[in-house]
Amino acid sequence: TLPQKVRLVDVGPRDGLQNESQPISVADKVRLVDDLTAAGLSHIEVGSFVSPKWVPQMAGSAEVFAGIQQRAGVSYSALTPNLKGLEAALEAGVREVAVFAAASEAFSQRNINCSIAESIERFTPVLEAAQAAGIKVRGYISCVLGCPYEGEVGADQVAGIARDLHAMGCYEVSLGDTIGTGTPGATRKMIEACAVHVPRDRLAGHFHDTYGQALANIYASLLEGVSVFDSSVAGLGGCPYAKGATGNVATEDVLYMLNGLDIETGIDLDLLVDAGARISQVIGRENGSRVARAILAA
Ligand code: HMG
Ligand code: MG
Repeated sequence: TLPQKVRLVDVGPRDGLQNESQPISVADKVRLVDDLTAAGLSHIEVGSFVSPKWVPQMAGSAEVFAGIQQRAGVSYSALTPNLKGLEAALEAGVREVAVFAAASEAFSQRNINCSIAESIERFTPVLEAAQAAGIKVRGYISCVLGCPYEGEVGADQVAGIARDLHAMGCYEVSLGDTIGTGTPGATRKMIEACAVHVPRDRLAGHFHDTYGQALANIYASLLEGVSVFDSSVAGLGGCPYAKGATGNVATEDVLYMLNGLDIETGIDLDLLVDAGARISQVIGRENGSRVARAILAA
């Protein structure tokens, strides 16, 4: 049976825009977040407190947080890979953060410059400080269905990291198909392995659509009892450390499918399409949502 309600986390302002090499103004980022709030998203990933040498586009995240209109009941989150990032996030008034690990050693090194085990050690003080400050921490795992450097990744490997992140206090573990190579069968197997250690209602799916499998993988995840999914308005983005990876699955496309399944999200498709059209125009890219393109052409 399918869930009655799904929470969508729009990661477009972060995962989507982090990969853009052209400068995008703080005002345009603020507008994007405000548009997503207006469309009814209950969770928006606004930015990252990471090294500006590694991801220059996220350097203005504190200014973006200062500029957005925060609606009560909506979570506005940011990535924080270490204590320095957490401190900057707290300074910016951020109320929810995320740490990010990888299921492959090579990706861990390229993305955060340390081994998987070192990353978990590094997250411990982040979780402690966040808990002391009373803010929630989400945990990500990259490369759960394949790694750009190592190829196949075992479901047990993913499950072990999911267990660690959950045990250290992450309220939710988001399972990232960074390079979009996953298929529904592999997705189900990977979720079943994770569900041995982490309750299904604490798992989220984060699918990039590089191979066009993301919607099918979300449907497979719904059948596995997962009811939280990350997506990017207009299918923005890619990943700076996964060459050739396209954006996250488009929020509009996920919403259209969920609407068709009578699954509640609280999101207005028309307002969402407007938000995606606006940011696509700002960055001068074709809208990555098939649904948005169809609606805008009609
Ligand atoms: P490092 O070089 O090992 O760190 O990088 P370090 O502690 O040795 O510090 C080096 C320099 O960075 C120092 O500055 C620090 O102050 C600075 P310097 O003395 O050279 O001038 N620094 C920082 N500056 C700002 N904010 C910070 C911070 N930390 C250190 N928080 C580090 C380690 C983790 C910092 C680096 O590798 C990094 O920033 N990586 C970020 C990678 C990233 O953001 N990737 C994209 C997001 S993950 C993703 O997209 C996947 C996901 O979507 C799921 C999926 O699809 O798979 C979540
Ligand atoms: Mg991602």
